Amino acid sequence: MKVLIAYASRFGCTETCANQLKDKLKGAEVRVVDLGKESPGELEGYDAVVVGGPIYAGNIEASVKKFSTENVDILLQKKLALFLCCGNGDQFAAQLSSAFDPRLIEHAVAHEHFGYEFKLAEMGFFFRLIVRLVAKVKQSESRILDENITRLADKLAE
Ligand SMILES: Cc1cc2nc3c(=O)[nH]c(=O)nc-3n(C[C@H](O)[C@H](O)[C@H](O)COP(=O)(O)O)c2cc1C
Repeated sequence: MKVLIAYASRFGCTETCANQLKDKLKGAEVRVVDLGKESPGELEGYDAVVVGGPIYAGNIEASVKKFSTENVDILLQKKLALFLCCGNGDQFAAQLSSAFDPRLIEHAVAHEHFGYEFKLAEMGFFFRLIVRLVAKVKQSESRILDENITRLADKLAE
């Protein structure tokens, strides 16, 4: 099976998750593409596509939104899985709904919350301030949900 994992990441959490997912898709030919840096090109050759990104102020990273919006028709013809990295797990369903076209959500074989990271040392002053004030995060945190990554990989392989 040929799989594309298309993601974007500001501070590296989504990138880590995308690579962990790749490692779990044993036996598949997997290409991981950072949409913030490159275009995956034609999607015809892939059997399955995984699209994921981080949430900032309620919205998915813009390059992920653009990719999924521009490719709705072809994504509906693929085995599809969607994931988010987001700090507010309680808002996962609402944030997923605003991130992706409802037809993609309906069509996907899996939708998962892959967890989150807050890397305060790597953030500029402005982001650090927002995270401290809004999310009440006082030190760097990493909570990548390995079991959710495994679940998505298993669904994709079914
Ligand atoms: C400025 C800022 C705003 C954020 N806004 C949200 C949000 O609205 N909802 C949410 O669930 N998580 C929010 N988060 C948490 C990020 O989604 C989380 O840190 C994620 O792991 C970032 O992924 P990345 O390292 O791949 O960019 C925010 C984080 C930052 C720094």
